[in-house]
Amino acid sequence: MQCQNETIISNELLAPQTYRMVLTCHTCAEMVPGQFINIKLKEFSLRRPISICSIDADRITIIYKVVGQGTKALSEMKAGECIDVFAPLGHGYPIEEQRDRVLLIGGGVGIPPLYELAKQYRKLGKHVDVVCGFPNAEACFYEAEFTELGAHVYIATMDGSRGCKGTVLDAVRQYQLTTTFVCACGPLPMLKALEAVYSDGYFSLESRMACGMGACMACVAKDQKEADMYHRICKEGPVFPIGKVVLA
Ligand SMILES: Cc1cc2nc3c(=O)[nH]c(=O)nc-3n(C[C@H](O)[C@H](O)[C@H](O)COP(=O)(O)OP(=O)(O)OC[C@H]3O[C@@H](n4cnc5c(N)ncnc54)[C@H](O)[C@@H]3O)c2cc1C
Ligand code: FES
Repeated sequence: MQCQNETIISNELLAPQTYRMVLTCHTCAEMVPGQFINIKLKEFSLRRPISICSIDADRITIIYKVVGQGTKALSEMKAGECIDVFAPLGHGYPIEEQRDRVLLIGGGVGIPPLYELAKQYRKLGKHVDVVCGFPNAEACFYEAEFTELGAHVYIATMDGSRGCKGTVLDAVRQYQLTTTFVCACGPLPMLKALEAVYSDGYFSLESRMACGMGACMACVAKDQKEADMYHRICKEGPVFPIGKVVLA
């Protein structure tokens, strides 16, 4: 993990309020899917954590939604500008080579880390199903990119304007996806609903973070089995085996 000044290669609107940024990266060789970077923006003391979406030799891609002042400032940065990045951080999704099939489930900006994961499982020749949940058709992104990898993509929208009407679990049922090894990332209610159905696989969690590197304990999650045992989402996570930590 290093703090680097990187250069923005592109920063473009992908869907309403959702941007894709490509930036140079000096630590690509160390990165695994599911890890994140921590971005320092000039006006803000706390860094902003964003998942790594794609790792490509000397550059990475991130996809982020504008939700507040930090991500707004990020969306206004231009190609050629310098950006202060700590990367890579946390533990990502283990690649389980013995699996023949993997079901990836993402909600909104939980989908980006699943792209690099899909890429790596496809390189191993595995069958990859991806279920992507969005509020509506306008918000959809990365269907074509996952399809280009050779993954099978299923869309769920809450208003039914694209794909299956309803949640990602409605799509799993409608499209009769039977794979039980699941890697997921998305909002807490989605992960809680998935935890009621799946026990084999990994969830990536979000948390408000301060240091982002294990020093301050601002991001802890409680162990599901051991009393008084906590795990730092930024350090031991953000990816945990399903059932490891309390989803709260
Ligand atoms: C491991 C990890 C990976 C993430 N990956 C992505 C991603 O790929 N794409 C994406 O769009 N978003 C991602 N997020 C969420 C992203 O970090 C927040 O949306 C962002 O920090 C909001 O900053 P802001 O200044 O715009 O919002 P504000 O609400 O103004 O932020 C105020 C403070 O709260 C923190 N904060 C606000 N919302 C969140 C949140 N959901 N999670 C953590 N901290 C938050 C900010 O970092 C900041 O310190 C990720 C979060 C984590 C923890
Ligand atoms: S944010 Fe400091 S320990 Fe996780």
